[in-house]
Amino acid sequence: MRSSFSNNLGFIAAAAGSAVGLGNIWKFPFEVGESGGAAFLLIYLVFCFILCFPMLVIEIAMGRKSQQSAVGTFRVLGSKKSSLIGLLAIIACVLILSFYNVVAGWALGYFIEMVQGNFSIGSTFPDYIKSIETVGSFSLVFMLITAFIVNRGVSKGIETFSKWLMPILILIIVSLAIYAITLPGSAQGIDFYLIPDFSKINLHTIYNALGHAFFSLSLGMGILITYGSYLNKKENLLGIAAAITLTDVGVAFLSGLMLFPLVFSQGLETSGGAGLVFMTLPGVFEQLGQAGIFVGSLFFLLLSFAALTSTVSLFEVPVSFLIDEFKMKRRYVVWLCAFVILLIGIPSMLANGYSDSFTQFIFYPKSTEAVDFMTFISDLSSNTLLPLGGIFTCLFAAHIWRKEKLSSELLSKDKMLYERIIIRYISIAIKVICPVILGCILILGILDKYFGMMIL
Ligand code: PHE
Repeated sequence: MRSSFSNNLGFIAAAAGSAVGLGNIWKFPFEVGESGGAAFLLIYLVFCFILCFPMLVIEIAMGRKSQQSAVGTFRVLGSKKSSLIGLLAIIACVLILSFYNVVAGWALGYFIEMVQGNFSIGSTFPDYIKSIETVGSFSLVFMLITAFIVNRGVSKGIETFSKWLMPILILIIVSLAIYAITLPGSAQGIDFYLIPDFSKINLHTIYNALGHAFFSLSLGMGILITYGSYLNKKENLLGIAAAITLTDVGVAFLSGLMLFPLVFSQGLETSGGAGLVFMTLPGVFEQLGQAGIFVGSLFFLLLSFAALTSTVSLFEVPVSFLIDEFKMKRRYVVWLCAFVILLIGIPSMLANGYSDSFTQFIFYPKSTEAVDFMTFISDLSSNTLLPLGGIFTCLFAAHIWRKEKLSSELLSKDKMLYERIIIRYISIAIKVICPVILGCILILGILDKYFGMMIL
């Protein structure tokens, strides 16, 4: 018999765990701060609920209906040809996991450094990620932990761990945010984060908000299809999808509420991208004196936990595919996948200074700086494969699987009025709104990056 989540809560914890990841804590606050504070936040929220929520619902519904992995779902609900969409999703998962696991390894490594009170690590970050011994070993450890959890199966592994990790994660982030807000001088950070500046909103920020919402909710890559396939029939999908979206958005918001007050209270500047978390924060923790070791360790533990529930979900997609399609045993599949994905991740491990050819991997047209391999794979998967997967999934659900089947999958017995209205909206969204907007994002992204048109 196919394994399943034991209840709603277990499913929500696992799916929200997939959604809440490095993206929420590492990338989101920085994007908000850079791109107009609350103005960006507002656009982001609108995208999450108007565009991503309907997709979340259909992905889960499709998986639950088919009770199959991503590839099997498209085949069972459609045809052999459409199962190629599932294959695309699996490739995207494997690529994303190959570099995501490397960054997750940095987070784990930083946790160990913080426990030892080694705050100077912030200033030596470039050397840290350059060292293949360090990065390689932490990536290996992170992959082993992920594989260990997935190897225990859906309910004993993924569900049990998510049910523990998610509440701990939320407790840590709420405590750190309260601590940060009460530090003297934190108000400036809150202003920087939250005062809306609509002048910073342009095509580029809108593009980023949408891309980020999509990545953050783990859409377009078969994760929710796979998790949905382990869901029992009776659950109310709309409520479940709302809970996942709210948790994801809530954690992202709290993360900014924790980071900016921390940084500003110590009179430090926020730096871009990876720098904010890996370079600036250790210095902040150092200045906190006695509390620094504790707060710093908690923060990187939080980051590692967030990454772990996401790597587990990415990992389960190829695993469930191999189990379903080739009737292989979970324990063999898990170690095979761990090995292959680690191998694919090696160029990403080398791309931060160790190997020149991977560090200066490619020049996008018209750009003056070379892009490293990890950024290249991240761009390729997040900006190209994800929207592509999303468009295909919408078109499939709207035109091949069809509306009636979707509604019968979603409506509960009592058919409340609000349910009908939401489901109506969802079917319009996946037929028109989502494919059109995703299509624009995909085309703009391709023209901008690969054709050097500099639109964004
Ligand atoms: N949603 C995760 C994050 O925000 C990343 C992720 C993307 C996980 C795609 C699974 C699939 O970090």
